Amino acid sequence: MRVAVYPGSFDPITNGHLDIIKRSVKVFDEVIVTVLINPEKKGLFTPEERVELIKKVVKDIPNVRVESFFGLLVDFMREKNSNIIIKGLRAVSDFEYEFQMALINNTLDANVETLFMMTSAQNLFLSSSSVKQVAMFNGDITGLVPEVVAEELKAKIKETRKKKGD
Ligand code: PNS
Repeated sequence: MRVAVYPGSFDPITNGHLDIIKRSVKVFDEVIVTVLINPEKKGLFTPEERVELIKKVVKDIPNVRVESFFGLLVDFMREKNSNIIIKGLRAVSDFEYEFQMALINNTLDANVETLFMMTSAQNLFLSSSSVKQVAMFNGDITGLVPEVVAEELKAKIKETRKKKGD
């Protein structure tokens, strides 16, 4: 059985991520979508909230599991007996960062291979950070994230503003 891991921050999941998940399940027997902590990014949603959101979004896609992990991706791969990391590539600008991560992961564990899937044309410009920014300034995020994500993102921004007293 071919199990692949699709890791990311998913803060929150976008239609770009969802597209990669839908295409990955056609290639692998099982795909484990894994929320990992990127120490360089301050999150809006907690890891648990991100997992719950992804679960809601992928509920009708067979052979997808959603998990979270705190630590090195290669350690998670070993725990799951998987040696394939799936990553989506948008523009050339993603390449250097992704190439670096793929090399580090392969250096940490020579069995681990990173496979890149090209993003669909309509999602080329899409990122969780840009979606958050548009939502924060009350822009229209319809079509950028699944409906449930749009709702929870708006609620989260409201809640954060209230806490800050804005
Ligand atoms: O969605 P992102 O932010 O591009 O995902 C990056 C992520 C979370 C996959 C990456 O930061 C990661 O693998 N973090 C876990 C820690 C790790 O294994 N680091 C070594 C590779 S740089």
